Amino acid sequence: MPRIAYVSGRYIPHADAGVHIEDRGFQFADSVYEVVALVNGRLCDEVGHLDRLVRSLGELRIKVPMPRKSMEMALREMVRRNRIKNGMIYMQVTRGVAPRDFVFPKKSDTTLVMTMYPAKYDIPARKAAVKKVITVPDIRWKRRDIKTTALIGQVLAKQAAADKGAYEAWMVDDDGFITEGSSSNAWIIDKNRNLITRATANNSILKGVTRSALQALCKKEKIKIIERKFTVAEAYKAQEAFCSSAVALIAPVVQIDDKKIGNGQAGEITCKLLDLYMEYATKNGGKQERWNPA
Ligand SMILES: Cc1ncc(COP(=O)(O)O)c(C=O)c1O
Repeated sequence: MPRIAYVSGRYIPHADAGVHIEDRGFQFADSVYEVVALVNGRLCDEVGHLDRLVRSLGELRIKVPMPRKSMEMALREMVRRNRIKNGMIYMQVTRGVAPRDFVFPKKSDTTLVMTMYPAKYDIPARKAAVKKVITVPDIRWKRRDIKTTALIGQVLAKQAAADKGAYEAWMVDDDGFITEGSSSNAWIIDKNRNLITRATANNSILKGVTRSALQALCKKEKIKIIERKFTVAEAYKAQEAFCSSAVALIAPVVQIDDKKIGNGQAGEITCKLLDLYMEYATKNGGKQERWNPA
């Protein structure tokens, strides 16, 4: 069963799929992306990811490639053609193909590319797979609210983590506060069992769709979330810590730099949140949270 990719209206074997060398996504990272998890045949937080995709495109004045309904149908067609029940879909929209010039082209059709790969959602295994993170300076541009493919800052951060045998790099702003992970939002839990994660103010982080869903779930469960900045020193003293993203879902963190967090196992609240998220993602009768940039 060959993997199938989607390139601007065509479903093509993954190995044969490609875009033009003058695609602005390739030349300028003039493009945005989303990653949507497919769990047990259901697209997790599809509504939120499409909301954010449209918003990112609007911020960059890139045309939405097709009506929302058509995008939803194309996602389902990818799932159908790839015959995958558990996996990830990557979507990327670029400003399109045009002779190389920094200025927007007068005329270009947006490029939409989708790829898909399988993944496992073994929740006990995910709880057991505790993670180490390192901290690195946040060297990125200032519009981190837009999910662009200009990811070199994150690539370098993630490589620094990999070089140290860590799963993720938490990036630190010039004032010593953690912004977010290279491909996830960063969370700590203090001794009063409060969840703490950075606010989305000033475009200093990406407003994660998983983060938004967790906020809604915590509200229902009366679990307190405090949205505020936290320093590296504060993170070292956390009772629990985790990363959230569509790919990681909720990944327990038990070490930050050389400081151990908790007792070396996934924390109790972290595990509860993962269970709540999985229940929401797979069993809530299809109801999904909307994503709101505010
Ligand atoms: C920088 C950054 N922050 C946060 C996230 C988490 O976002 P989401 O939960 O929507 O996957 C990601 C995901 O790729 C990311 O790249």
